[in-house]
Parts: sequence; C-alpha cells; structure tokens
Amino acid sequence: MSKEYKRTLITTALPYTNGPVHIGHLAGVYVPADIYARYLRLAGRPVTLIGGSDEHGVPITLKARQEGVTPQDIVDRYHKLIKESFEALGISFDIYSRTTSAIHKETASEFFRHLYDKGEFVEKSSMQLFDPEASQFLADRYVTGECPHCHNPKAYGDQCEACGSSLNATDLINPKSAITGATPELRETRHWFLPLDKWEPALRQWILEGHKEWRANVYGQCKSWLDLGLQPRAVSRDLSWGVPVPVEGAEGKVLYVWFDAPIGYISNTKELYPETWETWWKDPETRVINFIGKDNIVFHCIVFPAMLMAYGDGFQLPDNVPANEFLNLEGDKISTSRNWAVWLHEYLSDFPGKQDVLRYVLTANAPEAKDNDFTWRDFQARNNNELVAVLGNFVNRVTVLTHKYFGGVAPAAGTLEAVDEAAFAQIDELKKGVSEAIETFHFREALKLAMDIARTGNKYLQDCEPWKVAKTDMARTATILNTALQICADIAVVMEPFMPFMSERLAASLRMDKLTWADLGRRDMIKAGTEIAVPELLFEKIDDEAIKAQTDRLERIKEENRLKSWQPQPRQADVDFDTFMKADLRVGTVLECTKVPKADKLLRFLIDDGGLTPGGRTIVSGIAEHYTEPEKLVGRQVVFIGNLPPRKLKGIVSDGMILSALNADGSLTLIAPSSPATPGSQVK
Ligand code: MF3
Ligand code: ZN
Repeated sequence: MSKEYKRTLITTALPYTNGPVHIGHLAGVYVPADIYARYLRLAGRPVTLIGGSDEHGVPITLKARQEGVTPQDIVDRYHKLIKESFEALGISFDIYSRTTSAIHKETASEFFRHLYDKGEFVEKSSMQLFDPEASQFLADRYVTGECPHCHNPKAYGDQCEACGSSLNATDLINPKSAITGATPELRETRHWFLPLDKWEPALRQWILEGHKEWRANVYGQCKSWLDLGLQPRAVSRDLSWGVPVPVEGAEGKVLYVWFDAPIGYISNTKELYPETWETWWKDPETRVINFIGKDNIVFHCIVFPAMLMAYGDGFQLPDNVPANEFLNLEGDKISTSRNWAVWLHEYLSDFPGKQDVLRYVLTANAPEAKDNDFTWRDFQARNNNELVAVLGNFVNRVTVLTHKYFGGVAPAAGTLEAVDEAAFAQIDELKKGVSEAIETFHFREALKLAMDIARTGNKYLQDCEPWKVAKTDMARTATILNTALQICADIAVVMEPFMPFMSERLAASLRMDKLTWADLGRRDMIKAGTEIAVPELLFEKIDDEAIKAQTDRLERIKEENRLKSWQPQPRQADVDFDTFMKADLRVGTVLECTKVPKADKLLRFLIDDGGLTPGGRTIVSGIAEHYTEPEKLVGRQVVFIGNLPPRKLKGIVSDGMILSALNADGSLTLIAPSSPATPGSQVK
C-alpha cells in the first residue's frame, strides 16, 4: 500500500447479461468503482476502468430457454440496455465490451491452451449429474438442491448464496434439474480440472500474510476457504453455449463460465489498448483493483488468482478486492427472478436528470461492512434534507448574494479574518479525510466528509451573516462572498467523483474549466472579476407523489409474487366417513344481510332454509371485510352447515356456518349452487 504505483487498473465484475442491472449491482460494484476511478483521474493518476458483459453461463441459457429465443438474442438485448444505462448514470468506463467478442474468445482459448500445454490441468473422468429428460449434463445453475453446509434448500450447483460456499453440483443433497425439474442421474464425463490445492500455499502467503489490510469480509472468507483446504476445480462443462475447449477431442465442451469471464478483464483491456495492454497487466508497477459483490469473492481471490499464477508470465494479482455486502430493497432481498428490484433503466426514465441523487443515496447508504436496506423514504429524505437543504441551499445562497451585491461578479477578498482562516483550515482537514477514505475504499465515509464541506459553508455563512454586514461594510462583504465562492468551487471538485453531473453544472456556472484534486482547498480557485452565471437550482425537492408511485409499484409486485408462489393447503388428515356424513349441508336463500354493529368482521344473515327454522335462520359470519355492500347479497343462494350447535356472537345467536373459498389473492368466493336450488335442500 505504501508502494507508489505508476497506474491503476480497476475492474468491475462483469454482470451476467440475463436481465437489466439494478440498484444492488450499482451499490455493490459500479458506483464505488466509478468514484474511485474518477478520484484517481482528478488526482492526475493514470487509471483504466474496465467493464463489460458476462455473456456465457447458465443464467443466460436458462433465460433464453424460458423465452424460446437464442442465448445470443438475450445477450444482445441486455448488453445494449446495460451499457446504455451505465453510460446514462455516468459510470466512466474506459471500455465496456463483452465476452462474446472475437478477441475474448481468442484470449480465453489461448489462456486455456497455455495452461494445458504447461500441464497445469488434471484431466479426469467423473460421474456428473445428467438430466435424462433434457438429455444434458447439469452443472452450476442448471441444478438446485440442498446445500451440504448450511442446508439452504435452494443452493445452486456452483454456489450456495445463503452461506457463500462454492459447490460442485454433485455435492447437493436432493438435486433437481432447473430445466425439467427431473431428478438427475449420474453419468460419466471427462473434464479438465485446475488443481487449486497446488496453489494453496502460494494463495495463503499472498492473502493471509500479504493482504491483512483487505476488508474483514473479504479476508475472512478467504481464510475460511483456505482453512477448509482447496480442491481441484473443473474448468470445462458439457454445454453448447460458451467458449469451446480448444483441444482435440473436446467436442461439445466449453470453458466453465467462471474460467472465461474473469479473463474478460484481460480481453477488454486488450481491445482497449491493443499495443500496451500488457503494461496494464504485467508491470509490477500496475496496481490492479477488483470491485465485486460478496458472492464473487472466492472466484476473484482464489480461482482467478490461481489461474494467473498458473499462467505466470508476470500477470499481476489484485492488490485489493473491495467486495461489498448486499443491498436489500424495502427490507427484502433483491431478486431478478421475483422482479424485486429498482432497475436502473426504469429509474432513469422515472427520475430524468436525477442520476446524481441515486449515486448519492447508494453511496451514503453503501453496504460496505454489512447488508443495508434501500427504501424510497430514505431516498426522498436524503434528497430533500441533504442535497436540497444542505448542498443546494449553500450554493444557491452564495450565488444569489453575489448577484445581489456584486452584479454576479466575484468580488476580491480583503484581509482574511480568523473565521475565514478557520473555514479554509476546516476544508483542508476535510480534503485529507476524503482522500484517505477514498484511498482505503471507505466511500460512505468519504461522501459524508465531502458533504461536511457544504456544511462548513453553511455554517460559515451563518456565522458571518453577509446580508447584515452588507448594510454597513461592503469591503468585508466582498471578503465573505469571495471565501464562500471558493467553498462552492471546493464542492464542485470534491463532489466530482460522487455526483459528476452536479459537479459539471456547478463548475460551469462558476466558470471553472478543469477540475483537479490538487486545487481543492485553494483560496483563489474563483478569481476576482469572474462573472458567475445566474443561479439555477442544483437539486429540487422530490415530492410524496413520486415516492408513492414507486412504493405502489413495489406493492403490486409483492402481490404478483404472492399469487405466483401461492400453494394450496396440504391435504388434511383423514376424517372418518361416518363423521363426515353427519354434517348437514343445506342450500339457503339470503333474505337479509346487514353489518353487525361494533364488529368489523361480522355479517348477520337471515336465511330462508325452506321452513326448517320458522321466520328464517340467523347465521353470523366473519366475512364482512370481503363484502362492503352486504345488502347486495340479498337474494343470493348460499351453502351452510345446518347442524352445528348454535353459538352467540356479539349477542346474536348464530345457527350454522356459511361456506366459502379463500382465494390466492386473499379474496373470498361464497359457495353457491350453479343453478337455483330449492331452499332447504340437502347438499350430498
Ligand atoms: N457474472 C458474474 C456475476 O454476475 C460476475 C463475473 S465477474 C468476472 O456474478 F470476473 F467473472 F468477470
Ligand atoms: Zn449453504
């Protein structure tokens, strides 16, 4: 860490291209990586930010199968959508390519072939799961079952998301095919394995001794992995979608997606810098940083590094792997299959021009050390109480006052007083804090300190009260506003990594041309005589209506999911025949139906039961919530149990029970004859 590097290569996990990206991806990987990249660029340090689509793997073929289209159709659709929405959010990738590119196929094949030729693989036959109905081998996400470690019933063939352990499909208890639901058979097949055990000592040394500074979650996962002992891992699959295994006699086999995808980082660098890519990967003065989510830790800290070590030739291992925990949405785990997410492309169209608000909220609430929750209320509150009320308000006050007293021209400062010096000193302090926090990947903390610059500005204005001073002392007013304008300029610089759109607008209105980190805290960023633009608001309030539209949408999705996952009550214990035959089921016609006073749930029915009960039968039923207009039930026929002992409800004697069905959506259907039946007739 103390080492001075010449350049930084930042990679971001390549998202599977089987759906759009959501706020969980953003908070976990892309927003922090972008902050880091933008910060280094501002600081004048050479940096490359690599992104791209992970277009192989089972999630994509499963999605294609569901929709009856080809995997290529799926990846073409989502690659475009994801790339465009990242761009719109201002994620400053130097390249965003894809693992179906020709250069990737070539790079990944060469990588495999090199390891193969060096004898780094173990080739062996083994029994693997096979779906007899789909006639194909099952691995990875093609198979689900119980995790042998934590007993989560929905573990995948490659990984358990509940406990994070990496699995082989044959480890699963009670495996099921994700394609047909069939129980798989075991069949023999031949594959290439990377003996991770061979690299275990080197990995131990590198991580456990060499990288004690890594985040506790990352270091901890690596340690428990290494302590369990590493096993050889298959790096090929019996599938048709993927990079073909480039050796004789490997027809029908492709590279395991977790073998090819991280090589995508290299392919994309090659595509970006055909001449100089090797400097970015093999020069010890390059610092590689992998931004990922916590479910990717083992692949980036164990598997890919073992691949790089096996390849040799100077490939640099990552210097840090700042993995984030997960972001939940309104208290529930984000899920693509359950549509429980805020999708980036939808956010961008629902909140046009508010990219920075999302970037701000996701950073302020980033799941750096533990899982965190995104709520729309918090989103609104942070926008209204922090961006509008603190940052926007400060800049607005300063620019409005500059227009009021100095015709929009930055005044020159006179001699600084203690309060001015104190404000500048405070900002120097904060600048150091922000740098240090960003360089150690504490982006939440960094953003909080950056916001403290705006808070410092507000407090400075409050202490100096230029609107009062202006009545008697224009020279002092000039000094105050000059100082306040420098703080506005500081905000444009310090916020650039976090909120680049706002920063650009603010810098333009202050006529700043190029922002650099070194300028932050300078006392003459805005020169006297500069004409400041007529102020426009940097942020606007988000009203309740906009928030309600979002929470309503989530409510609808919850409802849809409830319907989708509805299951009938399991079959009940047997009732003996004679007991059942004792139940006296009858048809009746509703004569009266009214709400029972002071009882929300109860309706009082008077039923024509064919004269069994003189004057009609009274039944009290707990279904009032489903029938808000009980009088409309008059004339309807119902089925009731007629021989239950009468009982008192709210002072009314109820003589029977009306039958109804409880539907999946929670509504109720009264059971009635399909055509008019004689009141009092028995249901047999
Ligand atoms: N597609 C994987 C996921 O979404 C991440 C791949 S990262 C890479 O979990 F290293 F393989 F590129
Ligand atoms: Zn598990």
